[in-house]
Amino acid sequence: MKKTVKDIPLKGKRVLMRVDFNVPQNDKGEITDDSRIKGALPTINYVLGQGAKLVLMSHLGRPDGQIMPEFTLKPVAERLTVLTGKKVVMTNDCIGHEVENVVNKMKEGEVVLLENLRFHKGETKNDKEFAKSLSKLGDIFVEDAFGTCHRAHASTAGVTEYLPGVAGFLVEKEIEYFDKVTRTPEKPFSLILGGSKVSDKILMIENMLGKIDNLIIGGAMAYTFLKAMGKNVGNSKVENDKMDVVNKILSSAKQKNVKIYLPIDHVIAKEIKDGVETKTVKDAIPEGWLGLDIGIETIALFKDALKNSKTIVWNGPLGLFEKKQFAVGTLEVAKFISTIKTISVIGGGDTAAAIIGMGLSDKMSHISTGGGASLECLEGKEMPGIKVLQDK
Ligand code: 3PG
Repeated sequence: MKKTVKDIPLKGKRVLMRVDFNVPQNDKGEITDDSRIKGALPTINYVLGQGAKLVLMSHLGRPDGQIMPEFTLKPVAERLTVLTGKKVVMTNDCIGHEVENVVNKMKEGEVVLLENLRFHKGETKNDKEFAKSLSKLGDIFVEDAFGTCHRAHASTAGVTEYLPGVAGFLVEKEIEYFDKVTRTPEKPFSLILGGSKVSDKILMIENMLGKIDNLIIGGAMAYTFLKAMGKNVGNSKVENDKMDVVNKILSSAKQKNVKIYLPIDHVIAKEIKDGVETKTVKDAIPEGWLGLDIGIETIALFKDALKNSKTIVWNGPLGLFEKKQFAVGTLEVAKFISTIKTISVIGGGDTAAAIIGMGLSDKMSHISTGGGASLECLEGKEMPGIKVLQDK
């Protein structure tokens, strides 16, 4: 167990808090999903309520050590001002004398947001000097950037060489859910996997096979499984170099008595285009067509597999959900999960976006704010950003 903000005195302290404000934006620079900002609010409000001076730091995108105006955190500062009801002061940089002056003049209960950490190369390199410069802005380090905890960067790992580090409430809650489902899940336990690539999920499947009862597979990765099983998948997206891996997964699942559910019918089209002609086929997909969503019979099959589950973990959409025509499978399964009594943990990234977009977020037990981070938790790894925090 790691220490949290509740385990240390905060009054009058400068709290340097890493948050993951790497939020999606449209081409006008408007934030299209602020769940990550909202996810950090409980810790932000607590720290401010304790009379600390709060210095927030985050990355946005991958500017790779360059100052790129499209990756400024200014829109985030504005949104945070609205969400907290407090004026959030934004600095032009994240280190240096000017920033130190701003921070040193802060009063209790005030908030400063530093400019994008990744405008400096030292951040992703976990550079010691850069981490030391960051540490000058705080007396205590708080890690609440769950989505970035799988990165050993200066602001997630290096900074703890100089400051005592504790977890925020978002990190605490995320870790609690992932610990529960990977260590002591209530059974039956179903894992739903989707998305495009099996290769991203091999380690996770290997770690989870010994814990689950059902493995339900949709999305493009299902076609790699179906092809490995000798089915005709037409022009569907497959990873031809992963057939051996998939066969190993299938035999390991059999050995461990894990039931595998794969699509039995498919919504297919000749190309990915709005308004394209689609049809639903059973079993084989004809040449020239590609599978883009699960069909009605598969939806029924998946619902049946899920209905008695006491734990459900879902990572990856079941079809090309960004296009309305191919979002039905993901939507129907999501709606079904929202009606059953189960612990439902939704992996971050695309799956979380799909559920939030459908307005079902408050119907799930937990929607993770981490994409890569949630995957690493399910792989059974202790993430670098967690390891460095103080133990209770
Ligand atoms: C994410 O969006 O998964 C996190 O913010 C980490 O971003 P990164 O993959 O660029 O390190």
